[in-house]
Amino acid sequence: MNPIEEQKQYMKEVKEYHQNKKLKYLILTMGCQLNENDSEKLSGMLEEMGYEETENQKEADLILFNTCCVRENAEDKLFGKLGELKRLKEEKGIIIAIGGCMMQEKHITDKIKESYPFVDLLFGTHTLYKFPEDLLKALKERRKLEDIIDIEGEIHEGLPVKRNSQLKASVTIMNGCNNFCSYCIVPYVRGRERSRQPKDIIQEIKELAKKGYQEIMLLGQNVNSYLRVEKEKGIDFEEYEGVHSFATLLRAINKIEGIQRIRFVSPHPKDFTDDVIDAIAECDKVCKLIHLPLQSGNTKVLKEMNRKYTKEQYLALAEKMKKAIPNLTLSTDIIVGFPGETEEEFEDTLEVVRRLKFEQVYMFLYSRRVGTPGDKMENQIPEQQKHERFDRLKALVESQIQENNQKYLGTIQKVLVEGESKNNENFLTGRTDSNKVVIFEGSQDFIGKMQDLKIISEHMWYLKGEV
Ligand code: 5AD
Ligand code: SF4
Repeated sequence: MNPIEEQKQYMKEVKEYHQNKKLKYLILTMGCQLNENDSEKLSGMLEEMGYEETENQKEADLILFNTCCVRENAEDKLFGKLGELKRLKEEKGIIIAIGGCMMQEKHITDKIKESYPFVDLLFGTHTLYKFPEDLLKALKERRKLEDIIDIEGEIHEGLPVKRNSQLKASVTIMNGCNNFCSYCIVPYVRGRERSRQPKDIIQEIKELAKKGYQEIMLLGQNVNSYLRVEKEKGIDFEEYEGVHSFATLLRAINKIEGIQRIRFVSPHPKDFTDDVIDAIAECDKVCKLIHLPLQSGNTKVLKEMNRKYTKEQYLALAEKMKKAIPNLTLSTDIIVGFPGETEEEFEDTLEVVRRLKFEQVYMFLYSRRVGTPGDKMENQIPEQQKHERFDRLKALVESQIQENNQKYLGTIQKVLVEGESKNNENFLTGRTDSNKVVIFEGSQDFIGKMQDLKIISEHMWYLKGEV
């Protein structure tokens, strides 16, 4: 039996075990959009097993953490929350399960087993698909269970998915990473790069289009090297509707009727080949906001980070893309305070930011990750200095965003209307091609449609528009 069919059998058994009682679950997701997508699969499986979602912790019969380990603050958050749940466990006997990236780190699972022995189930990134089987064992045998493997898991197709939105859907196209940037834990916890088959991706997106989804977010740790490892290693893959690379994948999705927008995260600058740039330029549905992680603007720091490009190469790539892609906007990730980063080297980062005027900058304080080369470097930067640089970068970014917002005033923007604004029920909210939030007054009929809006004012993190 294929592994997913086998798990579907376990889903039935869990349902029977509960004798169709309506039990409630709560999933707490940390980290990136790949994790969000994994949580949608966990929700899908739980609903198949007869569970219903709740947002109220006190109501839940099962609480599941989907963890991230890219930065340290996620660990503090998990341990804080576990302390809080101890009472619920004692009073109600709820099931507590923890999965995701952090579970691939032995020092973390050791700490959980020692300090939080009431946790029922630990599972890793490669065993997520076996959640129904593991849950059944934990329920039936009333024993603590750990299901974590260290090899790179295969990609299993066909898990049920419960999606967070009816308009926008995330589709993971590849798992893992082979880049080993020296600060990053991902290659150790998500394993080696492996791509999904073109046919599985295209069929999934066609199904989504049929269900009315309009925006597709393609996900992977390194999306623009889609199928590269397969080609290099001679691993079999089947070309489908002309898809044999990331560029051809974009072109094939662009042809799918019903889909209005295509986005993707994260590409790596070193893999940004001309065919991908041409595909972005020529595919009308591919959004022209491109996320291009910089990490640092200094060539020496980039080398220490093992990023495989220089400051000049990054700038040249950005220029080339701007020339080739009309209306291109860029967003980026920057790490502040990598070991050994000097004041002058940090200034290089500020200079690149000044030059490229990013639409959005995701800024991170360097965080030491056990097992990475960065953690072993001796010249760690004091916290206070990291914070001081972070604040300077933040001030620059915010002033640029404010300046950048001016260019929207008076323009007509195509906005995909998502629903009512959470902060103000008199307004609807949606996003531009460049992912800017726009709120406007309008009737419910606009929801789920692409609407032309005139931008009438700007407010740092959102714009206001009118029909
Ligand atoms: N410390 C700080 N930021 C990190 N990132 C990855 N690893 C670390 C780390 N150890 C950031 C990078 C990456 C983003 C997803 O998270 O900028 O692009
Ligand atoms: Fe981490 Fe670098 Fe891989 Fe991104 S490309 S997941 S930053 S190792």
